[in-house]
Amino acid sequence: MTLAPRPRSKAAIGSIVERMQELVADDLAAVEVLLAERAASPVAVIPDLSGYIVSAGGKRLRPMITLISAQAVGKTSRATHALAAAVEFIHTATLLHDDVVDESDLRRGKPAAKAIWGNKASILVGDFLFARAFNLLVETNSLEILNRLATASTTIAEGEVRQLAAMQARDLPTEDYLAIVEAKTGALFEAAAETGAMSTGSSEHAAALATYGKNLGLAFQIIDDVLDYGGTTTVIGKSVGDDFRECKITLPVIIARRRGSDEDRAFWERALHPDTQSEQDLAHAVHLIRATGAAEATVQEAEAYAALAKGALRSLPQSVYRDALEDLADFCVERAY
Ligand code: IPE
Ligand code: IPE
Ligand code: MG
Ligand code: MG
Repeated sequence: MTLAPRPRSKAAIGSIVERMQELVADDLAAVEVLLAERAASPVAVIPDLSGYIVSAGGKRLRPMITLISAQAVGKTSRATHALAAAVEFIHTATLLHDDVVDESDLRRGKPAAKAIWGNKASILVGDFLFARAFNLLVETNSLEILNRLATASTTIAEGEVRQLAAMQARDLPTEDYLAIVEAKTGALFEAAAETGAMSTGSSEHAAALATYGKNLGLAFQIIDDVLDYGGTTTVIGKSVGDDFRECKITLPVIIARRRGSDEDRAFWERALHPDTQSEQDLAHAVHLIRATGAAEATVQEAEAYAALAKGALRSLPQSVYRDALEDLADFCVERAY
C-alpha cells in the first residue's frame, strides 16, 4: 500500500503478535490442547475439516485478548482457558460460514474448507463448532459469561444478515457500515476482552475492557477492509478484491465514491453490480481508492478507533499485560502499512 511510512518496521509489527503469543505461551498452549481435544467426533468429516481450519495458522487474536485481559486484571484459570477456546471456536465457526456466504476460496493462506469439503459440510461443521463453544462455556461455571457470548453470537449473526441486506446499496451511510462492522466483528472482540476479565472472578475492569475490545474490533475490521483493496494475498492469506467482486460496500469505497468525480461515481455505479462488473474493474477501483485518498482516510478512521481502545485501558493497573493490549491496538492499524 502506498501510504506514508510509519516508525515501526514490518518485522516489528509482525513481532507484536509473536511477543503476545510468548507473553501468554502457557495459557495459549492450554487453549490449543482444548481446541484439538474438543474438535473430536466419531463423524470423521468433523475432526478432518475442523482440524484443517484450526491448524491452518490463524493469529489467535481473540483468545489472546481473552487471556491477556484476564492477566491484566487478575489470574487466568481453567475457566479462562475454556472461555478462550470457546471464543476461538465461535470465531472459526463464523469463518466457515462466512466463506460460504462470501464465496471466498482462500482462508489463512490455504484453500478455504468449503473449497475442499464443499459448502454443506462447511456450514454443518461450523454449526458443530458453535455448539462445542457453548459446551466449553458451560465449563466456566458462569451464567454471565455464557450469556455474554450467546448475545455476542446473535449480534454477529445480525451483523452478517444486515450486511447481506446492504449488498450493492448505492449510498450506504457510513453509520450503517460502522453498525455492521461493530456487530459482525466488534461484538466478539468486545465479549472476548470483557469475559476474559470476568473469568478472574472480579468484574471491576470488565466494562473498560469491553470498550477496549469493541473499538479494537472496529479498527481491525476497517483495516481488513482497506487491505482488501491494497494488501497482498501472501500477507492477508485471503484473495485480494473479494469484497469488490462480491459488491460489498466498505469504507474505502464509501469514501472514494463520495470524493470522486461524476465519472468516478458512474464507474462505481456500474462496477458494484454483479451483472455489469468486469474483470479489469478491480484495478481501477484500487487506483481510485488510492488517488482520492480514500485508503489513507480509511486508515485514519481505524486509527481513531484504536486510540479509543487504548484510552479505555487507562483505568487498568500498569503491567506488561496492559502494555501488550496497547501494542495490539497498534498492530491492528499498522498491519495496513
Ligand atoms: C478474520 O479475522 C475475520 C475478520 C474479522 C476480518 P482474523 O484476521 O483474526 O482471522 P485469523 O483467525 O487470523 O485467520
Ligand atoms: C469477517 O467478515 C467474518 C465475520 C466477522 C463473521 P469478512 O467477510 O469481512 O472477513 P473476511 O475478509 O472474509 O476475513
Ligand atoms: Mg463476510
Ligand atoms: Mg468474508
